Amino acid sequence: MSALRQDSLFDGDYPLTREDFRDIAAMLYADARIHLTDSKASLVYSRLIKRLRALNLESFADYCALLREDEDERAEMLSALTTNVTRFFRERHHFEHLSSRVLPNLLAQARRGGRVRLWSAGCSSGEEPYSIALTILEQDPRAADLDVKVLATDIDPRMVARGRDGIYAEAALAEDIAAPALQRFFLREGAQRRAGDELRKMVAFRRLNLNGDWPMRGPFDVIFCRNVAIYFDDATQGALWEKFADKLSPGGWLYIGHSERVDGPASARLSSAGVTAYRRNAEPSGDAP
Ligand SMILES: C[S@@+](CC[C@H](N)C(=O)[O-])C[C@H]1O[C@@H](n2cnc3c(N)ncnc32)[C@H](O)[C@@H]1O
Repeated sequence: MSALRQDSLFDGDYPLTREDFRDIAAMLYADARIHLTDSKASLVYSRLIKRLRALNLESFADYCALLREDEDERAEMLSALTTNVTRFFRERHHFEHLSSRVLPNLLAQARRGGRVRLWSAGCSSGEEPYSIALTILEQDPRAADLDVKVLATDIDPRMVARGRDGIYAEAALAEDIAAPALQRFFLREGAQRRAGDELRKMVAFRRLNLNGDWPMRGPFDVIFCRNVAIYFDDATQGALWEKFADKLSPGGWLYIGHSERVDGPASARLSSAGVTAYRRNAEPSGDAP
């Protein structure tokens, strides 16, 4: 039998009432468009209870009152509630596709003096953008001296800082990166390694809310936005796919997460072109290039 209080969604040391949960979900949606269903009550509880304890608060209602007036705590809440799981070369088939189908032309363009731009949107702690840069460097070891850049953005400033630091446990790196690349592109620091100069030269980290304004100019030849849109509702996802279509160059590629799908009006401009890979149609006919 459940001992849940009638108005409580999750009963721990501090009951999380429906109203508290609704308030937290509304603030998270307003700030990041992240959509929390009631099934996330235990996750919200377990991630935020540490904040209540750290702040010596007695209830989630007090915490909600604080959130309403304290922007820094809103940022803490966002950090606590975002899921940052990632790894190097996650969903490896995208990197194989990038390497075999996309980079040969882009790097030839860069060697002729052209500009190549890739974007890891929702980059978490940096494993994804560095994996993109490693894929590029594997194909052209001189790429760091060409005009080939990877923009790495995330809403969570802590993740942006970790990506910029570029320090990872040796064991985590060794699981996903072949030894020669690991030794060449990461510098040993005890039981950790730090991204070396070539990777740093290619990857730039910035804080960016995907559901806010995008100040960057673009266009991008390739966008990775994987395992991010899954946290948004359908309308937010639809708007995001359209913004990506706007920011991609014609013929540019979009990679999304394994459980995501481009839907809505953007599907007229982004054609499915492989497993969770899409290509922006040539303008203006709407036909795939
Ligand atoms: C599960 S991680 C995915 C990391 C990486 N793309 C991958 O697939 O391994 C999701 C990331 O999306 C970020 N995120 C969530 N909402 C966001 C938003 N509105 N704007 C930008 N990033 C967001 C989170 O901070 C988190 O780092």
